[in-house]
Amino acid sequence: MEIIIKSSDYEVGEYAAALFAEEISENSQAVIGVATGSSPESTYRHLASRVENGLDVSRVKAFALDEYVGIELDHQQSYHSVINREVVQQVGLAPENVRVLDGTAQDVVAECADFEAHIASSGGIDIQLLGIGANGHIGFNEPGSSLVSRTRIKTLAPHTVKDNARFFDGDQSQVPIHCLTQGIGTIMEARKIVLVAIGRNKAQAVAGLVEGPIGTFCPASILQMHPNVSVIVDQEAAAELRNIEYYNYARDNMPTWQRPDVHTAE
Ligand code: F6R
Repeated sequence: MEIIIKSSDYEVGEYAAALFAEEISENSQAVIGVATGSSPESTYRHLASRVENGLDVSRVKAFALDEYVGIELDHQQSYHSVINREVVQQVGLAPENVRVLDGTAQDVVAECADFEAHIASSGGIDIQLLGIGANGHIGFNEPGSSLVSRTRIKTLAPHTVKDNARFFDGDQSQVPIHCLTQGIGTIMEARKIVLVAIGRNKAQAVAGLVEGPIGTFCPASILQMHPNVSVIVDQEAAAELRNIEYYNYARDNMPTWQRPDVHTAE
C-alpha cells in the first residue's frame, strides 16, 4: 500500500488523475471504476484537463460503484446524474461505455447479477477510484458488510444519510436509505485501487484503513490485503496516522519510474 500525503484537495486530485492517465495511456481500452461524492471531484477535473491535452478516453469503459434506490435516475443527485455530469460530460467518456447500477430496477437481484456479469465480460476493472466514508465504508459497504460481498442492495447507515444530506439541501429525510453497491469482494478484484480522502472528518477512517486491524468494523481496512493500492490524502485526512514520517519518507524516496506525476505530464 502506497500512502501519498498531499497538501491540498487540488494536489490529491492531480496525483490520482496522473495514475488514471498512466493506465489509460498504456491501454486506451482501459476499464475504470468510478466513484461519486465530493472526494473524487478534483480527480475528475484533472483528468478532464489531461483529456483536453490529448489523452484519448474514447474507448475507455467505466463502471460506477453504487447508486441510490428510491429516487429516479434523472434526479439531480442520483449517481446516474452525477456520473453523467462529472465523468461523461466533464471528462468526456462515451455514454454507451459507462455503466451505472439501476436503482429503479424492479428486480434488483437480477440487476446486480447483470452488473457483475457486465464487469466480467469487459475483462474486469483495471483501475478503481474510491472515496471513503467517515465510518470507513467503501462503495456503500457499511460497517458490518461481508468482506467478500458481491454487488447487492444495502441499507445506508444513519451516519452516511446524515453526511450525504448536504447533497439534498441539508434535508436528511430526502436522502434515500437504500442503495445498490458493488460488494467488497467485487471491489477487491480491481487490478489497481486508488483511494482519495480529504478533510479532518476522514482522519479516523483513513487511520483504520491504513493501520487498523482488518475487519468489517472498518470495511476499507480490507484494502490492506490488496496488492496494488494507492491511498492519496490531504494532511487533515492523514492526521491520525501513526506512521506518517515513514509514509512521507517513502514518498520522497520513491523511484522515479514509480511516480506517475513525473513520467506522465499533464
Ligand atoms: C460514492 C461512494 C462512497 C463515497 C464516500 C465518501 O460512490 O461509494 O463510498 O466515496 O461516502 O463520500 P465523499 O467523497 O462525498 O465524502
